[in-house]
Parts: sequence; structure tokens; C-alpha cells
Amino acid sequence: MTESADLLVVEELRYAYGDRVAVKSASLTCRRGEILGLLGPNGAGKTTLLSCIAGLLPSFGGKLTFDGQPFWPADDAPSRSRLGLVPQELALYGDMTGAENLQFFARMQGVESAQVAGAVQRGLELAGLVDRASDRVSAYSGGMKRRLNLAVGDLHSPELLLLDEPTTGVDPQSRNHLFECLHALRDRGRTIIYTSHYMEEVQRLCDRIVVVNEGVVIGIGTTAELAEQAGKPGANLEEAFLAMTGRSLRDEA
Ligand SMILES: Nc1ncnc2c1ncn2[C@@H]1O[C@H](COP(=O)(O)OP(=O)(O)OP(=O)(O)O)[C@@H](O)[C@H]1O
Ligand SMILES: [Mg+2]
Repeated sequence: MTESADLLVVEELRYAYGDRVAVKSASLTCRRGEILGLLGPNGAGKTTLLSCIAGLLPSFGGKLTFDGQPFWPADDAPSRSRLGLVPQELALYGDMTGAENLQFFARMQGVESAQVAGAVQRGLELAGLVDRASDRVSAYSGGMKRRLNLAVGDLHSPELLLLDEPTTGVDPQSRNHLFECLHALRDRGRTIIYTSHYMEEVQRLCDRIVVVNEGVVIGIGTTAELAEQAGKPGANLEEAFLAMTGRSLRDEA
């Protein structure tokens, strides 16, 4: 079978928490090997959308296709293992060392015993924490914790890595370090969906951008393509966003 260029296709995804519809209509494609940005203001539905894709919220409407096949990650562990989720909230044990965290999560994610030590070492290298492997995570800086959180999500070498606001609480220098990690992962063939409400971040890092507003995907493409879709050829991302939504993202950052 030939490999599909689209690794993930999301069609008409919809999710409600009780009466509150968080994602009204989300359709997008994520191409193999790209960093796809998911950009939208607070409350737009980014985490909900990512959680549906990751199989954490099973009862969504719509359809997912992964690598050309129907995809139901909530019901199917082998499908889920093709994804790695790096959550918006840090999910680390502060009283364990960086290496112990990686070891623990590698086992949790079903990495085979013989592969655990190698996965831990690769995770420490990815996070730039080889020298701090034996320190407790509670003594790490915000940037170090974020990088470790990223390495945890990537321990089982998933095909698609889902990142939810991975730069929360980190300074510009640590952000650059994290971006280097992401480029290193992309160079290794990882496909990445990168969620953020920072326009500068997605513009700098991502190959294409999905714009989400009030639970609806309202545009997808490069900055130039989004500007065209917004009826403002040549506009920058900020102007395109304003034209599409009638509001500035900057006000809510
Ligand atoms: N567990 C929940 N129960 C009820 N409503 C929720 C729940 N989680 C999110 N929501 C609501 O769903 C909508 C979308 O939230 P979501 O967290 O997906 O947005 P987001 O784009 O990730 O926002 P942020 O940028 O703040 O992380 C919001 O109105 C939010 O209040
Ligand atoms: Mg969120």
C-alpha cells in the first residue's frame, strides 16, 4: 500500500461537555512530516480537539482517519500508541529524578523492558538534561520541566506528537531551546501538531497553521494562504486573524 501524504484527517469533529459545545465543527488535515500549528484564543476548543484526537474524550462526533485508515484511539491501544500527547498541564513527578520519570513513563507507555534504558537516554538527550538526569524534577526550572514533559510524550517514538501549549511558563531562551528540540524531532521524521495562542510562535515554528475560533476551524494553510482565505492577500498572520474573526488574538494572550 502506498503511504498517504496526509497522516491525520479530521472531518467534522464535534464535542460537547454536557450542554456546552466546545468544538462545533473541526475539519483539518495534517501532512506527514509537517509541524502543524493549532492557533486560537483561550477557550477556542484547542485542548478539546487535541483530547478527542488523542482518545481521551471518546464520545465525539465526526470522523478521524490515520494513515489512510479509520481511527478510534479511545477504543484501541495499538492506535493510541501511534500518538504521543504532551499535555498543557505538566504531568511529572516532582519528587522523582528526570531519569526516573522517563523510566516510569516508558514502562507505562508499554516500551519493552529491553528498550527502556535506550528510550530514557534518548529522552534525556532530546530534553538537554543528560547532566541533570539525577536531580529531582522539583529542582528543575520551568523550561527544563517543559522539555522533560515533551520527552515523556515522545518516549515510545510515536508517529504523531500532539503538543498542547508547550511553552506555558517558559522564558524566551527556554522557548528557543524547546523549538530546537521540536526541529530535531521533525528532522527524525516526527509529525507534530503544535497548539498555541501565541501568533509569533506558530508563525515561526509551523509549516502550516489551523485557525480555531469559538469551536470552529475557520482556516488552514501557510500565512500567505490564510491571508488569501481572509480576503487580505499579502497580510501578515495577525491581520489575517483579525479579518477572519473580527478580533485580535494579541488582546487575549
Ligand atoms: N471539562 C470541561 N467541562 C466543561 N467545559 C469545559 C471543559 N473543558 C473545557 N471546557 C469548555 O470548553 C471550551 C473549550 O475549552 P478548551 O480547553 O478546549 O479551549 P482551549 O482553546 O484549549 O483554551 P486555552 O487556550 O485556555 O487552553 C471552553 O468554553 C471551556 O470552558
Ligand atoms: Mg487549552
